[in-house]
Amino acid sequence: MSEEPAAIEIANVTKVFGSEPDRALELIDKGLSKAEIQAQTDQVIGLYDVSISVQRGEIFVVMGLSGSGKSTLIRHVNRLIDPTAGTIEVHGEQVLSMSPQELREFRRTKIAMVFQRFGLLPHRSVIDNVAYGLEVRGVEKKARREIAGSWVARVGLEGYEESRPNQLSGGQQQRVGLARALAMDAPVLLMDEAFSALDPLIRAEMQEQLLALQKELHKTVLFITHDFDEAIKIGDRIGILNDGLLVQTGLPTELVLQPADDYVARFVRDVNKARVIKAGLIMEKGAFEPCGVAVSREMFCEDILPLFAEHEWVGVTDANDVQIGRLTAKRVIGALARFSTEGAS
Ligand SMILES: Nc1ncnc2c1ncn2[C@@H]1O[C@H](COP(=O)(O)OP(=O)(O)OP(=O)(O)O)[C@@H](O)[C@H]1O
Ligand SMILES: [Mg+2]
Repeated sequence: MSEEPAAIEIANVTKVFGSEPDRALELIDKGLSKAEIQAQTDQVIGLYDVSISVQRGEIFVVMGLSGSGKSTLIRHVNRLIDPTAGTIEVHGEQVLSMSPQELREFRRTKIAMVFQRFGLLPHRSVIDNVAYGLEVRGVEKKARREIAGSWVARVGLEGYEESRPNQLSGGQQQRVGLARALAMDAPVLLMDEAFSALDPLIRAEMQEQLLALQKELHKTVLFITHDFDEAIKIGDRIGILNDGLLVQTGLPTELVLQPADDYVARFVRDVNKARVIKAGLIMEKGAFEPCGVAVSREMFCEDILPLFAEHEWVGVTDANDVQIGRLTAKRVIGALARFSTEGAS
């Protein structure tokens, strides 16, 4: 195991909006809810004692309902917000102790942000929007247009270089936003509801695109969404916020199979379990004789089920392609039924 620090280390961060945070904190300690504290003191609990450690190259999704503190959390990472208590480190650097100049440098080189409402400059062409951060960084025109042009192509917007944002669809504008962030070549990407304004098909396309890019780029991504399906699709791990509290952190499968409380369980209820349960979890373990077809233990039930049209048995293999178990249609369907009713209770 490497000893290098986490990409993003959020430690015991509390944020109270208002001029008397101490009064609010006292009431939290007494067990009052966010709403009660707001009614009594006019202080708003944005976050309370939140700790998240995001590893390098990981996509960490923070999910929660409107007002749960997602934007507040992500804005601490590039210090658009200072916490009431707690610390934030990026690649081992304390964000809170940076001087104004260090902070500028940090925002220019270490982190890039993709916004929900695209945040494009309306009077600039697509390519000049993508090149904007490089311009700020002082990259000369020819070089920055070259870099920007390659990112415009990477996100599938070749031919639109000279278009204005208002000549593009929402999905295309979001691709420009993504290209602009990627052109900065920053190791950390902050995405606050980046896909939430898009219609479902375009949104699914953007999710696929992000995952495809991530396979090559290995960025550290902190991704905010209020959509649980989006969270399980793109998150390596997920943290769930409720009223400023981080109520659960885990792998998508962990959240779906063992929701920590009713709040998480409510999101989980409508999830297609076949998309989160992997072969390795439900297989009959053992070194059986080889089956007609074999799948990785990492494969999801959804992708395994069609195989039963042709095969009665499906082998399950480990990372070295050694068979470690087997599955039948009955076993898969039985497991899905069991997890679906458990998830609903
Ligand atoms: N500048 C501010 N002043 C006072 N209260 C604020 C401020 N910013 C956020 N809040 C409050 O903090 C809480 C968390 O807000 P935040 O914007 O982080 O929620 P969110 O999870 O991003 O919601 P959404 O899904 O609607 O974007 C809310 O109760 C909000 O009213
Ligand atoms: Mg928000």
